[in-house]
Amino acid sequence: MTHTPKPDCAGRRLTKIRDILDRHGRRASRLVPILQAVQEEYRYLPREVLTEVAAALEVSPARVFGVATFYSHFAIEPKGKHLVKLCDGTACHVKDSIPILEAIRRRLGLKAGQRTTSDRLFTVETVACLGACGLAPVVVVDDQVHGQMTPESAVQLIEDVLAREVAP
Ligand code: FES
Repeated sequence: MTHTPKPDCAGRRLTKIRDILDRHGRRASRLVPILQAVQEEYRYLPREVLTEVAAALEVSPARVFGVATFYSHFAIEPKGKHLVKLCDGTACHVKDSIPILEAIRRRLGLKAGQRTTSDRLFTVETVACLGACGLAPVVVVDDQVHGQMTPESAVQLIEDVLAREVAP
C-alpha cells in the first residue's frame, strides 16, 4: 500500500496560490484581481505570498508591493477579529466622521499609522461612501451598519463588542 503524504501548510498555500494564478492566466495585467483573490483567501496579503506572485508573473516584487500598498482595500498586515469601518465619504465627512474615528482609535489605543490592535481583536479602517448617506455619519462593525453615529455612540459599539468577547 502506498502512502501519500498530506501536503504541509506551505504546500497547501502554494497550491492555492497556483490555482489563483492559473485562474487568471498568470498574466501580469490581472495583478489586481489576483491580489483580490489572494486577500479573499487569507484576509490579507502575506509578504511571502506577494513575493511568490511577483515571481510567477515575472514582475518585480516592488511592483506587486506598490500595487498592494496603493489600494486602500488591500491589507498587507493581518486584520483583527472585528472589523470597524468608518465612512469618510462626503456626507459622513461633513457630519463629523473624523472625531468619531479619533474617538474609536483612542479607545483602542491605536498609535499613528496603526490599524490593528496589538491583540489582533480590532482593525479600524476608513472607507469611501457606503451608499447609506441618509444615515450619515456611518460606522460598520462586522458588517452591521450603524447610522447617525457620535463619538460616544461609536465607542459604545466597541464596548459592546468587548463585552461580548469576555462573556462566557
Ligand atoms: S458618505 Fe458615508 S455613507 Fe455615503
